[in-house]
Amino acid sequence: MSTAPVIITIDGPAGVGKTTLAKGLARRLQIAYLDTGAMYRAAAWMLGPSGAEMQEDELASRLASMRFTLKGAGPESCLLLEDRVIGDQVRTEEVGLLASSIAALGLVREYMKKSQQKIGREISLVAEGRDMGTVVFPGAPYKFFLQADPVIRAARRCRQLQELGQDADEKRILEQMRRRDSQDSQRAIAPLVPASDAVSIDTGSLTPEEILDRMEAIFADKEVRSQRSET
Ligand code: DC
Repeated sequence: MSTAPVIITIDGPAGVGKTTLAKGLARRLQIAYLDTGAMYRAAAWMLGPSGAEMQEDELASRLASMRFTLKGAGPESCLLLEDRVIGDQVRTEEVGLLASSIAALGLVREYMKKSQQKIGREISLVAEGRDMGTVVFPGAPYKFFLQADPVIRAARRCRQLQELGQDADEKRILEQMRRRDSQDSQRAIAPLVPASDAVSIDTGSLTPEEILDRMEAIFADKEVRSQRSET
């Protein structure tokens, strides 16, 4: 039997429940969880508000000094930048918007793709983001694309920010989310679109446990079928 790492991709827009589900699936399967949004957020945080306007050579050298590593498995997976845990300071909608702006730059995407693929060559992963199933891990055997009404997503994001102790205004969050959705899905490079072989799930009408059951059933079914075809 093959020992190559298994990659499961979960893509979708902001506030759709990617993190909860990716962590939950990683816990159930006891494999690592990679939050690629946190990589873009941490890079945006490090580059500062002028990151998206930076000269290419300066941007390239700043990116080259950012080393991401992933430690641990399941929900205890921990993403580090320069050996430091990426903290909750990157979890604001403002940093999310900055992340979305630098995420449209080819240099940034290329750097992130290489870093993410390097991690995926080493360990099995549930990888969540916007382009996991289309660009970074196009050959992944299990791909999910999540969607939900923006109003439901904004309410969910509002609750998450309040849990982190941040001020959160639902109307403002909905506006920022719509801006981010359009930036992420209309950019020229690696836009947010479902992979043609991804299973789409509407997270607005199901509980996280129901969705995880569905994901796990698809995973188990495919595993059994691929083992059968190997024998
Ligand atoms: O998932 P998130 O909200 O933490 O992501 C923040 C931003 O990072 C998102 O608006 C777009 C960008 N991003 C991306 O372009 N590609 C990814 N794989 C993950 C995030």
